[in-house]
Amino acid sequence: MKFRDMSTEERLRMLLSEGHLDEQDTGLLAQSPGLPTDVASNMIENQIGTFPVPLGLAQHFIIDGKPTIVPLAVEEPSVIAAASNAAKRCYETGGFTTSVKRCGLTGQVVFNGTLDQPEQFLKEHREAVEVVAQTAHPSLVAHGGGLRNIEVLTYRECNFIEFRLTIDPAEAMGANVVNTICEAVGHYLCEQAPSLKLLMAILSNNAPLQSAHARAVFPFTQLSTAQMDGAQVAERMILASTFAEISQQRAATQNKGIMNGVDALILATGNDTRNIAAAAYSVLNPEHRTWTNWTVSENCLIGDIDIPMPLGAIGGAISTLPMAQLVMKLLGNPSASQLMGIAASVGLASNMAALFAIVTDGIQKGHMNLQLRSLAIMAGATGEQQIEQVANLLRQNVKHASLDIAKKAVSQIKRGSLDV
Ligand code: MEV
Repeated sequence: MKFRDMSTEERLRMLLSEGHLDEQDTGLLAQSPGLPTDVASNMIENQIGTFPVPLGLAQHFIIDGKPTIVPLAVEEPSVIAAASNAAKRCYETGGFTTSVKRCGLTGQVVFNGTLDQPEQFLKEHREAVEVVAQTAHPSLVAHGGGLRNIEVLTYRECNFIEFRLTIDPAEAMGANVVNTICEAVGHYLCEQAPSLKLLMAILSNNAPLQSAHARAVFPFTQLSTAQMDGAQVAERMILASTFAEISQQRAATQNKGIMNGVDALILATGNDTRNIAAAAYSVLNPEHRTWTNWTVSENCLIGDIDIPMPLGAIGGAISTLPMAQLVMKLLGNPSASQLMGIAASVGLASNMAALFAIVTDGIQKGHMNLQLRSLAIMAGATGEQQIEQVANLLRQNVKHASLDIAKKAVSQIKRGSLDV
């Protein structure tokens, strides 16, 4: 039997019998907490298990006046602490204010060939194309979405013609909707102009019309450290973000930090992380290397983020994954627009926390606690008391903390000979 035709159980038995995995491994794969096998095996091909990552809650967020718990699914220590920390520092000034543009996604119906009068051709077929689009996805129109615009672009020198569709996906992320409509329109246009050969009919992940803005105000009083006053910290944070605008090396890191929070929220809600990454990075270029902007006004540091965020609130994995549904519930069942604003706020918070850390104490201080605990777990420490005992021991000589030292500590604890 082909691997793809087997049940999940049969696949595990095969991996076991062929020696790829042992019984402990297949036991681990068979437990799928939070995602029943019949759901998982119908979401992807060749499914053998699930891949859980920790889910945590970022706190202290007020978004558009509403206290918001922000669930984040992430494997990296400090992402949640960092976002929460930044949110706390703008809590007294009202948190995050967002605005969202949700004007549609682009679909590209591309033909190989030429037309003598492409504009005229489109004019003659526009109404029919609208009907084809509506018929291809009738429920979209019922939900307030649908085809919003169609234009024709000619690439004469390379012999391509593109019909570019703008489609409002209503509350969905929209990839399926756009692809379905584009394919239907592509086949219809082919029938109308047999000289054209349909090359592709597909969503564009460049989504500048679905983007989110968030702003937060951080009073200088919330920025001071033992070594620097708030104004100095703010000035250094602005310098750090200016440096990202001139250094591609630094921009890549700053943007990764922004995506720490954004990706974790997107994953938790069952949205498509690759789609958001593609859309967000599409708008960057050497004149505009990052999505955030930091300024100072009236004794406050002000952060702004503008980032493409083509998220959905329903459909696909958002509706299928039980954990995504739970996450949406924790978020207060936001609309797609509200979710876009939340994601932008988390991105801004992640950037704020990173800039703050790197221009003050450095990033390692905050990272260390969870890293030492992870080291303790990797060394075999179990239970809160043992993990903390080992982490404490490592903390006493942080510079030399290593897995070997942690392992020695664990075996000493287990023999009852460690005195901490
Ligand atoms: C680490 O995951 C992300 C940071 O490096 C981002 C940044 O430097 O801005 C802290």
